Amino acid sequence: PELEDMVGLPDFEWAARNYLPIVNYTYYRNGAAGEWSYRNNLEVYQRYRFKPRMMVDISGIKSTLPTTILGHNFSAPFYISPCAKAAYGHPDAELNLVKGANAGGILYIPSRYSSLKMETIAEAAAPDQTLFAQLKLSNDDVASKKLFTRAEAAGYKAIVWTVDAPGGSSRQRAQRFDVGASDEFTVQTWDKLQQYRNWTSLPIGLKGIQSVADARLAVDHGVPFIILSNHGGRNLDGSPSPLEVALEIHETDPSIFQEIEVLADGGVRYGTDALKLLALGVKAVGIGRPFMFSNVYGQEGVEKVIDIMKTEIAGDAANIGVADLKSINPDYVKWQPNFWY
Ligand code: FNR
Repeated sequence: PELEDMVGLPDFEWAARNYLPIVNYTYYRNGAAGEWSYRNNLEVYQRYRFKPRMMVDISGIKSTLPTTILGHNFSAPFYISPCAKAAYGHPDAELNLVKGANAGGILYIPSRYSSLKMETIAEAAAPDQTLFAQLKLSNDDVASKKLFTRAEAAGYKAIVWTVDAPGGSSRQRAQRFDVGASDEFTVQTWDKLQQYRNWTSLPIGLKGIQSVADARLAVDHGVPFIILSNHGGRNLDGSPSPLEVALEIHETDPSIFQEIEVLADGGVRYGTDALKLLALGVKAVGIGRPFMFSNVYGQEGVEKVIDIMKTEIAGDAANIGVADLKSINPDYVKWQPNFWY
């Protein structure tokens, strides 16, 4: 299908499935083991209903989409999550993502396992464009230290340290094609964080936080931002969706949302999904697979996803009676789950 026929984020997966070689599509689509967490990430949003308010002057809602992440300005409260191997979708690989993010004014966090080198991606960025570098760090400190040095030299503004798969992952769907599994065990600990801080002047955030206890520990360790994420359900089957973790933080330790910047990713496909996370206090939401699938259409595809999400977030916020996106709060959602949906 033509790009102009794409009306929502799920359309891009459908198009990619019909266009890409099956190995490439499967690598992107894959979840861990029985893919329960993968499905739950998508479905959990519909367990919670909005409590829409009417008769509100929502005429200014579009102008309230811009936000900051770590003090950097962006046009909307969503960003491109780090995903490996963009060359599986398009020969220009991450170049489309970095240029599309700049055109749309949103944050892009290139993956440590990008098809292109982190320097090549940074060189394609606009002079005033902000990029964060995602790193997955091995037990090899010499190699890790080099990554910090390279990221800083290339102009990245923060490090996103992914901590969610110390035991590797079993991705059976893709393993059948010999891609996408890892059996590497990595020791990542709070002590390591202090060591890494000595190696870089960049702020280090943690991606893959899945419990209130760890979110609180991050605050206590002075971590400036965390990303609630179960890696799109790709690592531990049975891991909670970011919405479930955000809700638990809201119910048991809500000041975390004020003490540090909390980002979240997993299963966000519609403006309404993003609004439910934002309502709980999440600063910005990450989107992974839809951007990888949109890359099949190159930079224009990436920009289209950004446009669709902006339109949906503004329209849906207006429909629930939010005049200013910064004022969205937990009262706009009924947090008792519907089990029949
Ligand atoms: C990922 N993700 C990921 N995360 C990370 O920290 N480093 C990485 O290299 C990758 N690689 C990667 C590859 C692919 C193909 C996917 C789909 C995902 C996880 C990613 O950052 C994010 O957490 C999820 O993709 C969010 O879920 P959705 O939006 O894909 O449902």
